[in-house]
Amino acid sequence: MSYVIEMLNIRKEFPGIVANDNITLQVKQGEIHALLGENGAGKSTLMNVLFGLYQPEKGEIKVRGESVKITDPNVANRLGIGMVHQHFMLVDTFTVTENIILGSEPRKKGTVDIKKAEKEVERLSQLYGLRVDPKAKIRDISVGMQQRVEILKTLYRGAEILIFDEPTAVLTPQEIKELIEIMRVLIREGKSIILITHKLKEIMQVCDRCTVIRKGEGIGTVNVPDTNPNELASLMVGREVTFSTEKQPAQPKEVTLAIQDLNVKDARHVDMVKGLNLKVNAGEIVGLAGVDGNGQSELIEAITGLRKVDSGEVMLNGKSITNLTPRKVTEAGISHIPQDRHRFGLVLDFPIGENMVLQTYHHEPFSKKGVLRYKEIYNKAKALIEEYDVRTPSVYTKARALSGGNQQKAIIGREVDRSPDLIIAAQPTRGLDVGAIEFIHKKLIEERDKGRAVLLLSFELDEIMNLSDRIAVMFGGSIVAEVKPEDTTEQELGLLMAGSKQQKAGGQ
Ligand SMILES: Nc1ncnc2c1ncn2[C@@H]1O[C@H](COP(=O)(O)OP(=O)(O)OP(=O)(O)O)[C@@H](O)[C@H]1O
Ligand SMILES: [Mg+2]
Repeated sequence: MSYVIEMLNIRKEFPGIVANDNITLQVKQGEIHALLGENGAGKSTLMNVLFGLYQPEKGEIKVRGESVKITDPNVANRLGIGMVHQHFMLVDTFTVTENIILGSEPRKKGTVDIKKAEKEVERLSQLYGLRVDPKAKIRDISVGMQQRVEILKTLYRGAEILIFDEPTAVLTPQEIKELIEIMRVLIREGKSIILITHKLKEIMQVCDRCTVIRKGEGIGTVNVPDTNPNELASLMVGREVTFSTEKQPAQPKEVTLAIQDLNVKDARHVDMVKGLNLKVNAGEIVGLAGVDGNGQSELIEAITGLRKVDSGEVMLNGKSITNLTPRKVTEAGISHIPQDRHRFGLVLDFPIGENMVLQTYHHEPFSKKGVLRYKEIYNKAKALIEEYDVRTPSVYTKARALSGGNQQKAIIGREVDRSPDLIIAAQPTRGLDVGAIEFIHKKLIEERDKGRAVLLLSFELDEIMNLSDRIAVMFGGSIVAEVKPEDTTEQELGLLMAGSKQQKAGGQ
């Protein structure tokens, strides 16, 4: 049996926590090997050890049968190991090509040979079907393209073994299809892949084998054709997981959010929201379905004060909140679970405890006469961390050191706990494991039953269908249809989202 990678009995500790305890992972040449485990189980840590970002306290790593010491990412690169991180590591103001060659620039007479670099990038992108615009700046391109840049970056450095840390969490369904195709091409060209994902469907679809870890310990490796999503879920969580959420019919009450004839432009002054009308009542969950880029982000930014409204009105409980500052919108009674947790959700270098009161620290009991009361803050944070099962060594740990999914759970806990009138949940379960998704879905339904209005934005049609009481379909900047989940199918929703089927909007 030829293994390209063997990680044997790896142990990695952080202050207060053993992130990897005696984990073994063996990857065969030419396979796609899934790494599965709950949020905080230790997946990213294990991969960071393989990529030379962390040194293990114990254990051995073999590459193609030879024992190696991977002291830093340059050594990993030389061994043919490349990594696409959970949170991208690109320089925003650099071009695609500049990012790809960063640190390995081809030189001619002492200066960077950008022509040569562009040619090589072009060649690789053709070979693997990785569409990019070599001259575009990172900040101007889609998340999907940024990810392709990260993949090209590893290939440019000669990677033979690619580590993908939750690549599909940030992608739209269309982009996921493309990535899966790209992974297949990579395998055909002789590469091996380690794939971290929480989406069991993806494991079933593309992976050959799957190694499961739980709370830092290895549980075992299974052949994917011999298993099923239920078994995988119970292996990783250690109990049965239900995939659909039970809920009673909604009891909608008064109108909480009313949007009238709203128009919003994006950063390039293109009309993204066009004459949009939408109502969300207290006590109901309205799912916003749509293909990415049809104005959903701009709509949510406009409601929450992050983007200017061009014309039209946003009303909360009968009062206009149009063009208020984000803080005023928050104080008016809106909670926001943002799509981009790093840009809007957390202050990464603050302790997680302080992050739990980001919206409320200037109020009693967390401050008095302008002085912060840390005891109150940390007591609240401890309670929330407990309730939402945020796995962290302590409340004093910096937000940056939490695993991706635990950062997300912390934001959800903070936003839901404020008892707002309206919760805007944008991709709330992005990056969460199946158990955590189940929990968050239950929470959102509970909030609905307490009489909150919930506006849910999700690219996952399962989630929209399972959770929504009413689905509003957004296409081309407006709501083109409103349907009840029980009266529709994913196929029909797909057609509505593609704009190929129109229905009169407006019915409640
Ligand atoms: N740099 C760090 N300093 C301190 N603790 C850390 C650091 N990196 C990770 N940890 C801790 O190690 C544990 C494992 O984290 P890791 O990021 O590996 O989880 P994960 O399996 O990738 O989870 P997720 O699915 O949420 O991304 C967590 O408890 C996390 O808080
Ligand atoms: Mg991770």
